[in-house]
Formats: sequence, structure tokens, C-alpha cells
Amino acid sequence: MKKSAEKKFLTMESIVKLLEEHRLIEKGLDVLESILSQKIDKNKLEYMLKFLKVFIDKCHHGKEENFLFPRLEERGLNLRAGPIAVMLSEHEQMRNMIAQIEKEVEKPESDEEKVKRIAEDYVQALRMHKLKEESVLFKIAEQILDENDDKELSELFEKFEEEEIGKGVHEKFHKMIEELEKKI
Ligand SMILES: [Fe+2]
Ligand SMILES: [Fe+2]
Repeated sequence: MKKSAEKKFLTMESIVKLLEEHRLIEKGLDVLESILSQKIDKNKLEYMLKFLKVFIDKCHHGKEENFLFPRLEERGLNLRAGPIAVMLSEHEQMRNMIAQIEKEVEKPESDEEKVKRIAEDYVQALRMHKLKEESVLFKIAEQILDENDDKELSELFEKFEEEEIGKGVHEKFHKMIEELEKKI
């Protein structure tokens, strides 16, 4: 085996940061599934919608769309075809699913079965999406990004988190999801 093929993947600081977020997202999806498996507790569902919108979409997908994907494009990966294009269109599909769930939940006579159906589809879609990123896109990223890209991306992620989501909000989500997870 050639030496380059032995390189250990997913060790860059910026990519590891995204991976750690994937781990929390997995826990969040388990919590969401347990909420969907019984009569829906509206308060819990509303909290989870906040997690889906703020932590997953705005913060996590935001870091990928605003910084990781453009940097990969600068390093030669096509933004309009291939894995990035797939990831972008999946982000968009999941964004639409969240909007549909919210729209239904806000109705005075909301259709619980419809909410469950869309939310279950969302859970499956996001699990597949994470898998694709980890097995394909993040591996490509570690091959084409250099140390400097990694350092800059890590700094950009941190700044984005503070400016867009606010200091401490990320940690608050971690705590809440871990507590909810213990109860399921
Ligand atoms: Fe993504
Ligand atoms: Fe991701």
C-alpha cells in the first residue's frame, strides 16, 4: 500500500469540529424520534424545532455553506455538481421540511400524523446526509485542504458561532440535548 493511502482521515481541527456537531445532532435526532413515537408533547417538539432551526440549520449547515464549501471550491471542487451540489440541495430540502412542520404545528387544529410523517422523513434524510458527508465529502476535504485552510476555517467557525448564534448558545443546546437524551 502506498504511503499516501495510509493517511488517517478526519483529524483536521475544523472537520473534527463539524464531526462533534454531527454527534450532538445524532443525539438530537434520537430525542426527536422518541417524541414522535408517542402522543406529541408540544413543548418538547417546539424546543426540538428550535434545535433544528438554530443549531442544525443556522449554525451547522451555516458553517458548511458559508465557509467549508466555498473553501473546497477554491481548492478545485465544483460547487454546482458532485458532492457539494448534493449536500446543498439536501440542506435546502431539510430546510423546507422544517418549514412544513412549523406551518402545520402553528395551525390551531394541527394534523399530528402529518407532523410525524414529515419529521420522520427529516430524521431519515439528515441521518443519510451526515453519513454522506463523513464518508465522502469530509474525506475529500482532508485531502485537498492544507494546514492553513484548516486553521482559518476553525477561526471562521468560531467567529460565526459567536456572531450569528451568540456566545454560550451552542453550549446551552449541548446541555439540553444531553439532558433530554438521558430521559429517553
Ligand atoms: Fe451538511
Ligand atoms: Fe454536516
